[in-house]
Amino acid sequence: METSNIKYIIRNVEILDLPALEWNGEYKHFRRLYKELFRRAENGEAFMWVAEIPDIGIVGQLFMQYASNRKIIIGTLPKAYIFSVRVKPNFRNKGIGTTLISHAEKHLIEHGLQYATLNVIKSNHKAIRFYESLGYKIVRHEDGKWTYVDHKGNVQHVHEPSWRMEKQLAARSDEYTYQNHPCIPDISMLK
Ligand SMILES: CC(C)(COP(=O)(O)OP(=O)(O)OC[C@H]1O[C@@H](n2cnc3c(N)ncnc32)[C@H](O)[C@@H]1OP(=O)(O)O)[C@@H](O)C(=O)NCCC(=O)NCCS
Repeated sequence: METSNIKYIIRNVEILDLPALEWNGEYKHFRRLYKELFRRAENGEAFMWVAEIPDIGIVGQLFMQYASNRKIIIGTLPKAYIFSVRVKPNFRNKGIGTTLISHAEKHLIEHGLQYATLNVIKSNHKAIRFYESLGYKIVRHEDGKWTYVDHKGNVQHVHEPSWRMEKQLAARSDEYTYQNHPCIPDISMLK
């Protein structure tokens, strides 16, 4: 892949990448969360992708899971929830974020999912503009209340009022049945 003279690859996270996902300590509080997510990814229940530049390392990431919907009935269109999208500051505005999103959307289309969803904090105007430019639309307000256990074992409560954004990836097929694409139970609201 080549964009703006930067060559990078998008690949699955490997276990040895987990420390790098802490971004030099900035996200160490998510250590347990990412470890659990990695376990789920190994089971095919979640997806963790990184953008890597040879000789430099991981410069971006995108995680995804099938959206929770415990009331899914036959004919309901399943969605996927994209989260923890980030690109290191020095490598932004070079197309890496767009490529990560495209990679996730391609995966979803190939697996018959028709919607991608994500939450973005209301004050994150740059990210909102970024997602809008990629075809995502604000569909509703989300309280953005969630909890996680940090690297020290303490429960952390988060409150980040957010927009739920959504993109339809493909035209609806009336022949679609949920049984073809079982969704994975939610683990929590992740950012
Ligand atoms: C949001 C984020 C992931 C975008 O990643 P990115 O790699 O900068 O994304 P891209 O480079 O593909 O696109 C960003 C902008 O650069 C532009 N761009 C894309 N390729 C470009 C290129 N080759 N040259 C110049 N500009 C380019 C895009 O048009 C886009 O413009 P826009 O913001 O006006 O829509 C990144 O800014 C980030 O990590 N932010 C902090 C974390 C965050 O807010 N994450 C979202 C949480 S919901």
